[in-house]
Amino acid sequence: MIIDHIGIAVHRIEDALPLYCDVVGLQRIHEEVIEDQRVRAVFLQVGDSMIELLEPTAQDSPIAVFLAKKGSGIHHIAYQVKDVKAKLAEAKAAGIRLIDEAPRPGGDGKMIAFLHPKDTQGVLIEYCQRV
Ligand code: CO
Repeated sequence: MIIDHIGIAVHRIEDALPLYCDVVGLQRIHEEVIEDQRVRAVFLQVGDSMIELLEPTAQDSPIAVFLAKKGSGIHHIAYQVKDVKAKLAEAKAAGIRLIDEAPRPGGDGKMIAFLHPKDTQGVLIEYCQRV
């Protein structure tokens, strides 16, 4: 299994890009607005993995809520799996609450689902399947 990406919440992606692109030296590979999550995402390549910079597009965006509570920082870690549905069933059987009961379309043409951070040592875990 690999880490597909690490999601980082920021107030403004444009303010974070000089750090990640010019200082750290990552390359910008993909960008999109994920309407149902009310976020804009820019993906930066790190080998076979990515950094996903996340910026809210509305006040009620889950990322806006996160930023208000915790400020900018690591928002989630996404593991690339072959079958999100099967991994969700495994987590549920292990007594872990799910944010998503079923996989839903995420950014970059992927199917994704989140586990509840209260049951995962405080780190939001995303399962992500490239389709
Ligand atoms: Co993500």
